Amino acid sequence: MNYQNKAPGEYVLDTRYGRRVISFLSPACFRFFDPEAPKSPCVEGITPIPHGVTIKTLENEIIFSYENLQVSISDTLDIKATYLGKEVLACRPYQEHSAQLHLELAEKEGHASNDNAFAGGGFEVDNARPVYGLGERTGPLDKRGYDYINWNTDDPSAHVDTFKSLYQSIPFFILFDGDSSLGIFADNTAKTHFDFNKSDREKVRVSYVSGKDDIYFIFGSLADICAEFSGLVGRSPLVPYWALGAQQCRWSYPNADKVDEVIAEYQEKDLPLSVVYLDIDYMDDYKDFTVDAFKFPDLQAWLAAKKEQGIHIVPIIDAGVKAKEGYFLYDEGIANGYFCTQNGEVYHNEVWPGDSVFPAFCKEEVQAWWAVHIAKMLDIGFAGIWNDMNEPASFKGPLPLDVDMGGTLHDKAHNVYGHYMVKAGAKGFRLAKKRNFQLTRAGYAGTARFSGTWAGDNQSIYDHLRLSLPQLMNMSLSGQAYIGVDIGGFGGDSTPELLAKWSVASLLSPLYRNHSAIGTLDQEPYTLTGKYFETYRNALKLRYALRPTLYTELYLAEKEGNVPLRPLIYNYPNDSRLINENTEVMYGADLLLAPSLTPGETRRAVYFPDDFIGIEDGRLYPKGDHLIDVSLGRIPLFVRAKGLVALEDNESTLRLFWGGDRNATCLLYEDEGDGLAYLSGVYNLCRISVADGRPHIEYLHHGYHSRYQKIILSGPSALYECPFPMQE
Ligand code: GLC
Repeated sequence: MNYQNKAPGEYVLDTRYGRRVISFLSPACFRFFDPEAPKSPCVEGITPIPHGVTIKTLENEIIFSYENLQVSISDTLDIKATYLGKEVLACRPYQEHSAQLHLELAEKEGHASNDNAFAGGGFEVDNARPVYGLGERTGPLDKRGYDYINWNTDDPSAHVDTFKSLYQSIPFFILFDGDSSLGIFADNTAKTHFDFNKSDREKVRVSYVSGKDDIYFIFGSLADICAEFSGLVGRSPLVPYWALGAQQCRWSYPNADKVDEVIAEYQEKDLPLSVVYLDIDYMDDYKDFTVDAFKFPDLQAWLAAKKEQGIHIVPIIDAGVKAKEGYFLYDEGIANGYFCTQNGEVYHNEVWPGDSVFPAFCKEEVQAWWAVHIAKMLDIGFAGIWNDMNEPASFKGPLPLDVDMGGTLHDKAHNVYGHYMVKAGAKGFRLAKKRNFQLTRAGYAGTARFSGTWAGDNQSIYDHLRLSLPQLMNMSLSGQAYIGVDIGGFGGDSTPELLAKWSVASLLSPLYRNHSAIGTLDQEPYTLTGKYFETYRNALKLRYALRPTLYTELYLAEKEGNVPLRPLIYNYPNDSRLINENTEVMYGADLLLAPSLTPGETRRAVYFPDDFIGIEDGRLYPKGDHLIDVSLGRIPLFVRAKGLVALEDNESTLRLFWGGDRNATCLLYEDEGDGLAYLSGVYNLCRISVADGRPHIEYLHHGYHSRYQKIILSGPSALYECPFPMQE
């Protein structure tokens, strides 16, 4: 077997199954691709390592070695890799031809005669390891025994374990084996089937309807793999500080008076609040980029007044555009050919406004046009954009697969339609010179670079409260830092107990938003009474106190690809009890939440993988099994005994929760809280330690005048107060 070295670091192989290229991107990552693979929607500007790869050619195989990674590729496309001397990858081509399930799905799409669904290509990997990632899914943390399909889907019925698809499609997963784990990113936007040790208990299988191999294999620990993957596809940018506060949404608060009433209720009940969303009814006739002037008279002044009050207003923008002559957006789109077409004609379907057309977001020109309208919304004083129905959702059956979405047909554009919509939105934020704050429902790998995600239309059921933890943990491992689910559940009516428990279980979700569907009972926290209300309010107060730590981790996510919200196994990779831990969650290295997820429960079993201290009771819980009090009113949040967590007592007082360990340290990131100055150095990053029982601050970067004036060291074994040390 032979190879050619055409471009620096790219080795071209002519195999029995066609031409393939291998390149090393780092000492722990190689890319294996068909040179005919289309341009990636997310990976940009990668440079293969040009030197240092040693190559050995054998009769039917070639062995490439770079540092600790050795890859052999055979003439029949068998790929084997060892990392740090350990066999980590054994992979071969796989094509799925006949599974009835997929034929039926294809038929539902209108492809009744397509008898070779999932015969486009794919691969299988020998596997016995736990499987994590794959973005937003139902089912447990460890995905072994399940299969999923990448096809962004808006199905508002209760999301259960048998769901193959939800709103997002991230073709990235991790086969976990401590420091020798393997991350696989199969960058293909076509419909793709993932079978994780299901039809063959010893194999993971990936097969795509169409498209070409473009696969990245990444090696190392969970942390290494996640950072390398997010480095490839783009990292979640830091959200504004206010985006860590409480967010209230409802389909719909119909007018300014109602929003004012909601804000007043929050204030009256001493509940902190930072964001209110406007759902579809704020628009004039469901027309994007319009605001009903009767419902919101003097909009600009009202938005400014809300901002003064510390409330940021975020409107929804839907993908479907009302098809009506005389409506500026429709007219502009028609005049410029900006909408999706089929057989050369503008394609119509139905969404909220009735007859609708869809911007051809795959085209840059269309993104630029959309960005101008987004920027105008931001200029008026809206604080962010909530992007919805961008799978795209449609009421008159799915869009046919030959709809042209801007140079790419729907079959390949479907899974990236939402990605390009929020890419357009991010351009709008750049035009307006504002810090990005977007939410999206649909997405692909790398969408997090442009937008946070809420996990769509969950329901007010305990199953969905339980689902939220593994779902968010896997999204987090898939490169999405700013994520959350609708607190209280969107569809159906939340009970006071469910709502109160949800407010606690979401404490560490970077996005903390209560939202509910039209026609459901009100579920704002102020509708609660007694112990239910107390629970929600306690959770909110603690949430506000946690913001410095939440923010620091999100900064590190943008900077270094840190995973803020994480499964326990991320921090304790050698503890096999954590492989499928679905009911506890960590944030950063030191915070562990073990919420009650069951009605009527007042005590629950918690396994601590280390010594932890209760943040409320100050009690030490030594490593091992414990029964803890989760009765209403209690917040089962714990700090690692060897850790240090930065909390905020008020605007100017930082409180360090210290377990008493002499070597405890943490990082603290601080900036203006909004705007873009942090990108040019206007921020502080410091390392805080407590070596001799006092806080010490070492500035790693000092470019901002800290708003803290006082620092309190607290915890079970300390109370120490001093001015916040500044380095002038
Ligand atoms: C979709 C969204 C939901 C929103 C509703 C109305 O169902 O997922 O969050 O409230 O549309 O806009």
